[in-house]
Amino acid sequence: MERVSGIEPPSSAWKADIISHYTTPACSSFYKERDDSSLICDRMQESVLITSLILFVLFYTVILPVALTWGIPPGGPVSEIQHVISVDQFTPEWIAELFERAKYWKRSLCRPGGVASAVLSSRMMISLFYEPSTRTRLSFESAMNRLGGRVIGTEDAEQFSSATKGETLEDTIHVVSGYGDVIVLRHKERGAAVRAAAVSTVPIINAGDGDGEHPTQALLDLFTIQETAGPPKDQHVVFVGDLNKGRTVHSLARLLSKYGTSMSFVSPEHLAIPEHLCGELGLSSACEYRSLDVVIERATVIYMTRTQNERHHEGQVGAGDGSDYGLTRELVAWMRHDTVVLHPLPRNSEIPTWFDQDPRAHYIDQAHRGVPLRMALLEMLLNPLPE
Ligand code: CP
Repeated sequence: MERVSGIEPPSSAWKADIISHYTTPACSSFYKERDDSSLICDRMQESVLITSLILFVLFYTVILPVALTWGIPPGGPVSEIQHVISVDQFTPEWIAELFERAKYWKRSLCRPGGVASAVLSSRMMISLFYEPSTRTRLSFESAMNRLGGRVIGTEDAEQFSSATKGETLEDTIHVVSGYGDVIVLRHKERGAAVRAAAVSTVPIINAGDGDGEHPTQALLDLFTIQETAGPPKDQHVVFVGDLNKGRTVHSLARLLSKYGTSMSFVSPEHLAIPEHLCGELGLSSACEYRSLDVVIERATVIYMTRTQNERHHEGQVGAGDGSDYGLTRELVAWMRHDTVVLHPLPRNSEIPTWFDQDPRAHYIDQAHRGVPLRMALLEMLLNPLPE
């Protein structure tokens, strides 16, 4: 008999046991003539069924709507995390646990010969990218491979999936969630990860949804801040560039607000942080600036970003939008000696390459932390450690 997914076929002794069990008089009478005990048994089964039905109806008509009204995020509360959709799901306690594991994997990666783990050896990750990516896709795939898992997917689902034939995202996810254990999804539309999670039978990880969120980038940004600058509550983080369409900015600002981090936002007016986010984070206009020189001396962390040209309508952003908000030798001279300069990358001209050798430049090691951080995340989602 063929062995199916780890279930042993019954041995001949087992088979004999089963046959004798179902042919003994007592067992036959259970099916043919119901005695009192079988009636009690039936009634118990009925009441269990009715109770389950009542609980099911209660859950969907009362408990779930109330939970949603109270603001439990779409991916579920983090204690029972299923999908990773938004930083709103993460608590500082959960993040602390994740970072401990990320540090463990980071140390393992630094050992001679690198990490060799089989912790996810029976698991399959589906990498579904409808938008270009270098860091997020490759670091997720590296993380899964380093944990002994396997990866299937497409780097250009927009062109090489059945999306070209008109298949909806929902249909694609519904089907491919039967092909693996977790789906890492990048999509050009805000809200795509929520739509995917609604139909998926396996966890969805939001790897960036339009100008919405990029929660795993925010985790690795925070991890980098903690390791290079110190506790987030002691920092003054200055966001610079396209704060309107930059999803990494939106996620990181939301995440830092959980720690009471002081934040400033430097951008041209038309690329300013969205009003709804200002309201959500309780930011006053006093923390918005049009020029980096006004605030650079206070910055312990500078989070640079490029202009998201692909998300603006043609003509909406003009020449100079990026370079006006870039680092210059003059600005660098005003910077504190211990300021940490980050960038989610890719960069354009906002950080000149001559700055790469400066000890305050941390954007490359920031990107490198993506692997251990995502190893920790995949492990927590697919193989949670015992309490
Ligand atoms: N930071 C980031 O999301 O980079 P990629 O677009 O290369 O994945």
